Amino acid sequence: MYQNQNLQQNQPMLNSQQLKKDFPILSRVINGKKLTYLDNASTSQKPQSVISAITDYYTNHNANIHRAVYTIAQEATLAYESTREAVKDFINARSAEEIIFTRNTTESINLVAYAYAATTLKPGDSVMVSALEHHSNLVPWQEVCRKTGATLKVIPLSGDPELRYTLDFEWFQKNIDASVKILAITQASNTTGTIVPVEKFIEVARAHGAKVLIDGAQSVPHMPVDVQQLDCDFLAFSSHKMLGPTGVGALYAKKELLETMPPFLFGGDMIREVHQQEATWNDLPWKFEAGTPNIADVIAFQEAIKYLRAIGMQEIAEHDQELAHYAKQQLEAIPQIIIHAPKNAKQMTGIISFEIPGVHPHDIAEIFNSDNIAIRGGHHCAQPLMETLNIPATARMSFYIYNTQEDIDTAIEAIKKVIKIFSPKK
Ligand SMILES: Cc1ncc(COP(=O)(O)O)c(C=O)c1O
Repeated sequence: MYQNQNLQQNQPMLNSQQLKKDFPILSRVINGKKLTYLDNASTSQKPQSVISAITDYYTNHNANIHRAVYTIAQEATLAYESTREAVKDFINARSAEEIIFTRNTTESINLVAYAYAATTLKPGDSVMVSALEHHSNLVPWQEVCRKTGATLKVIPLSGDPELRYTLDFEWFQKNIDASVKILAITQASNTTGTIVPVEKFIEVARAHGAKVLIDGAQSVPHMPVDVQQLDCDFLAFSSHKMLGPTGVGALYAKKELLETMPPFLFGGDMIREVHQQEATWNDLPWKFEAGTPNIADVIAFQEAIKYLRAIGMQEIAEHDQELAHYAKQQLEAIPQIIIHAPKNAKQMTGIISFEIPGVHPHDIAEIFNSDNIAIRGGHHCAQPLMETLNIPATARMSFYIYNTQEDIDTAIEAIKKVIKIFSPKK
């Protein structure tokens, strides 16, 4: 198995410059310029160990899982199921039965929306989401409410200028009641970078009898997340945002809930017995994994988890936050810029959105691209949030373990170039 040459364990601080060497794509040069990758909220890059694990699977172990008795099939099954154990340990679930592999966060949320919410909600019930949600944690709930007659309620942003871009917890406390059966809330916004103190929301929601789904797409890759400590009912996240391959997501759900929920998809592998007119379901977690799964990528996901754990999630959280703080300071020094991020650096994950009035974020991203700097300009799949903020789009930089202050300095130079080209007014 491939060893990452540049990963040194238990370092007091991340040596991001060194870590970059484990990520082949980061040495890619386009038009004479090295790639500066600052779009990690969208997807992360992959270390060589993850890339090699995919090749190793297809080269040495390729076989379908859970079925055949021959050696390579047993190896494939073992490797696939050991990723489940790794995911379980990573988020501190009680048992591997509580970990379902899906395609991504979106599918994990849809699984809960259809197999849990759509089968239990009725008119008079409500689902609560927040104003910070990605479309993935909003549209499935809109659909479920439409189908069941339940009402969708939205926790607004705080009106306090000191607390801009954070959620109005007092509103939440006042408005939650026994009609709210599900609170579906993000732990970190992919647009403003706001870290939501979900522990507080979970405690109140549970006291009112609501089940809680946490959208962990932007938190699980960037900070320690412990499902037992949080006491959430569901947690959804994606491998591709945490150094792993695309096409793999995970859903954590409490076992007692999974036991009562009907399957989401039906077909092979999720059954115990099938007769002409009826069927019974497999044990957990396989009851929720119909058909041949994404075996190679699930196996490679384990390498991503190993890589993150070798660094330490607390160290990663601090590193990402330090970079976001540094980027914010640099941006604040440029008078033309409006920053869309919480005031308190502790409430920010490694994401920062900004605007240059008079310049479309797509133009900003284009000019960055001419220097081979990857950032995102757009609504970031959070159109209702854009409406609330009364802006069409933002430019967004998002950081990860291999990003350095020099990467941010490179981005700041590109911003100065944008300003020079467009000469927007202060
Ligand atoms: C907060 C949040 N939730 C959900 C998603 C959806 O993730 P995926 O596209 O992997 O399903 C994203 C993706 O950017 C996200 O940032």
